[in-house]
Amino acid sequence: MKLNKDIIIAIDGHASCGKSTLAKQLASTLGYTYIDTGAMYRSVTLYAMQAGLITDHVHTQELINELNKIHIEFRYNAKLQKAETYLNGKNVEEQIRGMEVSDWVSPIAEIAEVRAHLVHLQQQMGKNKRIVMDGRDIGTVVFPQAELKLFLTASAQERARRRFLELKQKGQDVSFEQVLQNVEQRDRIDSTRAVSPLKPASDAIIIDNTNLNIEEQFAVAVSILSVRFGNGIDCLL
Ligand code: CDP
Repeated sequence: MKLNKDIIIAIDGHASCGKSTLAKQLASTLGYTYIDTGAMYRSVTLYAMQAGLITDHVHTQELINELNKIHIEFRYNAKLQKAETYLNGKNVEEQIRGMEVSDWVSPIAEIAEVRAHLVHLQQQMGKNKRIVMDGRDIGTVVFPQAELKLFLTASAQERARRRFLELKQKGQDVSFEQVLQNVEQRDRIDSTRAVSPLKPASDAIIIDNTNLNIEEQFAVAVSILSVRFGNGIDCLL
């Protein structure tokens, strides 16, 4: 699909609502780079866990002091045809998706210094446009000038059902209630934090996908793109 100009697509929304699925589809259709900012917050969380900076609470100041020791990269795995997250040179793609990281990531993402550090890296990644970035504050803080902003949501039950199936398929030992509780708790912390709370940008298009499957959601996004940035008949090819 060809657009009439290079753009930034910002996709924000609640936990487990299909942001990354849509972002990957759009990036692949447009030949753009996909950036998963949640993986960056999850990597900082894993670092903190491994460095003993999370006990029964987060050791905030110590973590802030170590932020410059945390190197996060996305490397393309040609065999799996997807980018994987590396933390200080080590592939952490599986580890950062587990429940332990999910349970601590929102408290870590509340820390203003962590956010400033990651937002700066994210802005560098979008310097030349042609990216699809998903997260919580992309349309509001990271790229307030993004040409297209989508805000995805769905009922908490439906989102927990999808994430539960995904974790089960990966062989993780979790209950539906545990996943639902995590999704609801992250939404609460993400939406009420002082710095960059999760909320739709005033110019975001809100898509509730509770009753949409993956193909239907993609079709909605493609029609928005072709109306806003279409190039006549070309844009659908
Ligand atoms: O995939 P899922 O929607 O469950 O979460 P994620 O995108 O991997 O993000 C994990 C957590 O990182 C969120 O619950 C937020 O607390 C935090 N996050 C954030 O604060 N800002 C972002 N731009 C992205 C993620």
